[in-house]
Amino acid sequence: MNAELLQELNDIAVKMVTPGKGILAADESTGTIKKRFDTINLESTESNRRDYRELLFRTEKAMNDHISGVILFDETIRQNAADGTPLVKLIEAAGSIPGIKVDMGAKDLAFFPGEKVTEGLTGLRERLAEYHTLGARFAKWRAVIDISRGGSTVMPSYACLRANMHALARYAALCQEQRIVPIVEPEVLMDGDHDIDRCYDVTEQGLKLLYDELYQNGVALEGTILKPNMIIAGKKSDKQAGTDEIAEKTVKCFRNTVPAAVPGIVFLSGGQSEVQATENLNTMNRDFADVMPWKLSYSYGRALQASAISTWGGKAENVAAAQAAFDHRAHLNGMAQLGQWTADMENAS
Ligand code: 13P
Repeated sequence: MNAELLQELNDIAVKMVTPGKGILAADESTGTIKKRFDTINLESTESNRRDYRELLFRTEKAMNDHISGVILFDETIRQNAADGTPLVKLIEAAGSIPGIKVDMGAKDLAFFPGEKVTEGLTGLRERLAEYHTLGARFAKWRAVIDISRGGSTVMPSYACLRANMHALARYAALCQEQRIVPIVEPEVLMDGDHDIDRCYDVTEQGLKLLYDELYQNGVALEGTILKPNMIIAGKKSDKQAGTDEIAEKTVKCFRNTVPAAVPGIVFLSGGQSEVQATENLNTMNRDFADVMPWKLSYSYGRALQASAISTWGGKAENVAAAQAAFDHRAHLNGMAQLGQWTADMENAS
């Protein structure tokens, strides 16, 4: 890769992990946003989806102070606000970077029941080139690793891990070729009753394979961002670890797998509550900042939006209150990025 392109990608990646800021994952697919709207009994129409995203992107304090980038879905990157302003322009006006989800979802992996491989490489070069003209400067691709079911097969299989990490590397290379920073997201799901150490082992193996694949495919790590799960027990496990153990094991896992050239690691929330996701991020940054070569921040979907969406409820009269809820959450996560969050801030307005 030439030095100029590498610098351009590195500048974007570094900006994505500006201290006190993180990423808003607002790239729910049409199916996922419908599920979110179902919880507030709102029909998922194009204009409702637009109104909701506009509400978030017009939340000035949150966007200006704590959101370095926003991941969009294909529909959203093409949408205009009610007054005709492109939504991308609202994001840019707040000093935040537009990004785009480019994978086409996790599909059943042939001959490996219960396991998935993420698709979307066909035509990706052309789609990335178009997204760049629409304003996207980074992208996201999510691989899904399910470790919830044992039975007669061991999950995940090596085939599943290898196929997903290879696809992530091919996606990342295409992104960089098109001057777009790839967020590489290998998500080990929280579904199941596995304990924290099982999550550690699978995450470690996945990340070892991922960085091997990225190397083999010529990806420059200085122009990438990693979006992983935390090391955490399955949702149904009766042995839930506390925040100190989660923080210690997560940082240990990354120190053993993620090269120092990677500018930033931004977590998905993956089903943690808003407060849990904030507290765990804070513990890591508070206690381990001096042993981490990368910035550690957030790229939360549900853990940034849950309060905002329920406060909104699809009603115009609730927009200001929903924006206040988003402001509050973004501020708390910004503090957690700095290791300065405290529990009493949760109740302050
Ligand atoms: P959650 O934070 O809700 O897990 O979503 C983040 C994301 O973008 C998953 O791909």
